[in-house]
Amino acid sequence: MSESAKSVSVSLDGKTTEFPVLTGTLGQPVIDIRKLPAQLGMFTYDPAYGGTAACESKITFIDGDEGVLLHRGYPIDQLAENASFLEVAFLLLNGEMPTAEQNEQFSAQIKQHTMLHEQLRHFFNGYRRDAHPMAMLCGTVGALSAFYHDHLDITDPKQREISAMRLIAKVPTLAAWAYKYTQGFPFVYPRNDLSYAENFLYMMFAMPSEEYTVSPVLARAMDRILILHADHEQNASTSTVRLAGSTGANPFACIAAGIAALWGPAHGGANEAVLKMLGEIGSVENIPGFIEKVKDKNSGVKLMGFGHRVYKNFDPRAKIMQQTCHEVLAELGVKDEPLLDLAVALEKVALEDPYFVQRKLYPNVDFYSGIILKAMGIPTSMFTVLFAVARTVGWISQWKEMIEEPGQRIGRPRQIYTGAPRRDLPQKTA
Ligand code: ACO
Repeated sequence: MSESAKSVSVSLDGKTTEFPVLTGTLGQPVIDIRKLPAQLGMFTYDPAYGGTAACESKITFIDGDEGVLLHRGYPIDQLAENASFLEVAFLLLNGEMPTAEQNEQFSAQIKQHTMLHEQLRHFFNGYRRDAHPMAMLCGTVGALSAFYHDHLDITDPKQREISAMRLIAKVPTLAAWAYKYTQGFPFVYPRNDLSYAENFLYMMFAMPSEEYTVSPVLARAMDRILILHADHEQNASTSTVRLAGSTGANPFACIAAGIAALWGPAHGGANEAVLKMLGEIGSVENIPGFIEKVKDKNSGVKLMGFGHRVYKNFDPRAKIMQQTCHEVLAELGVKDEPLLDLAVALEKVALEDPYFVQRKLYPNVDFYSGIILKAMGIPTSMFTVLFAVARTVGWISQWKEMIEEPGQRIGRPRQIYTGAPRRDLPQKTA
């Protein structure tokens, strides 16, 4: 981050104050308002943070108008095509793509941590069988902090690294076990001879009673889905992780906070909501009626899987997801998937409708991901869980970056108070 030659001046009551303008490597410049309260006796008002950069980061860059997503400078389509999820994880955490040797070593280290403490099994029994797997994931990831007291010193880089490895390795096991628990199936232990994506599919679908072979095409698709969801700059859940982490909370607690934030339908819950929406629309003839409902502000209905806070042109992940969707359906021999036909028709109608065009609403990553996951046999309630498995890598990379920042302080937004002015309680009469 460097200070540009420009500055912004604010005039108030005849006095002019200058504020520096900062620039990063890419993206819009920002006005540095850190001294604003001291100099002007005012705060800025920006609910939902649409115009606020809350941190400096070297991890991910998004240009929403151009549909660009870069991780450590590399375009998402190149990563999805040429890298594995664990290579992307290494890149996000460390800043560079791993060499072949580093890749082997990193993968071996992650595999060393895939097992869970046996005591953790018992946590699942505390949940009702019909509990949402996100509830189980949120609880059990938070519970990991109770198992690694010896490695919770966040000021020690080695301990931070071990915690990051543990989270990346154990979250898929917790996720798969949350699913098994809802089904009443036995937990399947990880297999370290498999790749990260293969192992996740294995723990989800294998049964002790019969041989289970993971399809390489489905494993590749799963790997790609994980890559596409690995990180996305300062979104709601990542900002939650950073805010929780800014207090010095341990990384397991911070990631549990991120999982909670991801759960909502406006964020990670959207692909689950897309399938529900497609099911409700039912068939192509009902699309016009549904679109009219979406456009009616009083209906409270949104076109799920459309729109994004940052992407106002297209979501580059959506394009790769659409292509992956066709590949997966072909591999599975699904010639006619009514939900896909419906999604394609719905997308076409929306993209031609002035309501969506004027508001720059395009399909986001979740519009097609639900269809792929459903075709792969992943139950709807597991969609957001899978997102959390992938995003754990982004969350922990962003957490690590924040902790390593010199002069890092607790995050603490301010407010405009609009409640009652100071008043006195009525005097009690004896
Ligand atoms: N359907 C209908 N109208 C929409 C939609 C939508 N999906 N998204 C935005 N709009 C409308 C808004 O009502 C608003 O209209 P107005 O200007 O007439 O008031 C306008 O478009 C601008 O939208 P905002 O609300 O300002 O967009 P915001 O950045 O706050 O929200 C969000 C982004 C939450 C993603 C929103 O587009 C949405 O709810 N989409 C559906 C849920 C979804 O798919 N979420 C996944 C996001 S990707 C992810 O988390 C991985």
